[in-house]
Amino acid sequence: MGKIIIAIDGYSSCGKSTLAKQLAKALGYIYVDTGAMYRAVAYYANQHGFFDKNALSVLKLLEALPKINITFSFNPQLNKSETCLNGENIEQYIRTIEISNQVSKIAQIKEVREKMVDLQRAMGEQKGLVMDGRDIGSVVFPKAELKLFMTASPEIRAKRRYDELIAKGDKVSFEEVLTNITLRDNDDTTRSENPLIKADDAVVIDNSNLTQDEQYQLALKLAKDCIAQK
Ligand code: DC
Repeated sequence: MGKIIIAIDGYSSCGKSTLAKQLAKALGYIYVDTGAMYRAVAYYANQHGFFDKNALSVLKLLEALPKINITFSFNPQLNKSETCLNGENIEQYIRTIEISNQVSKIAQIKEVREKMVDLQRAMGEQKGLVMDGRDIGSVVFPKAELKLFMTASPEIRAKRRYDELIAKGDKVSFEEVLTNITLRDNDDTTRSENPLIKADDAVVIDNSNLTQDEQYQLALKLAKDCIAQK
């Protein structure tokens, strides 16, 4: 049976990665979290002092860009791919509120996006891939066989992200998380480079009132129907 590319786009904290992982597992496909790639660049900038408070020195980052190498390594114990920056596994450092606040600045830079898009396209050459992000169906794989666009209300998304952070032991308030999500929605949809937009042929999934399993069954059916037509 032919393999397809599944592009999942949508707002921050919509459950894109949960769904993408479930689909990849069910179909035996590779899963790529493109948000983690932008987060890895933000982490590099953070560690190298390119941020002064939240102001980024774009010049320093552009100079360093050729030295930033992002890969994924599979963790068999956790059964998931983890993000590596220049060979170092940085998975545990890239989802903090600090990096979440800085990453939008990184994702606005044209040269960063070009580099990430090239890497992402290379990963899709063999198909059999589920990739989530903001511009996957619109820019990275405009010919993806299945495109999903996920959304949910900001409050519901903030509550889900807040619960995750608290479970990890992070000290954040719900308001902080909601503010971060609202700001990122605004940055994602208004930036000039590859803003978050729904591709014309994407299927919208609003999961405000869907359970994870309902959402999964819906998407799996769409994927199977699509694969059957190949
Ligand atoms: O999905 P996430 O929250 O981990 O994404 C982190 C940031 O990267 C978010 O601010 C949006 C940005 N991003 C992007 O601009 N393009 C993508 N394909 C994926 C993420």
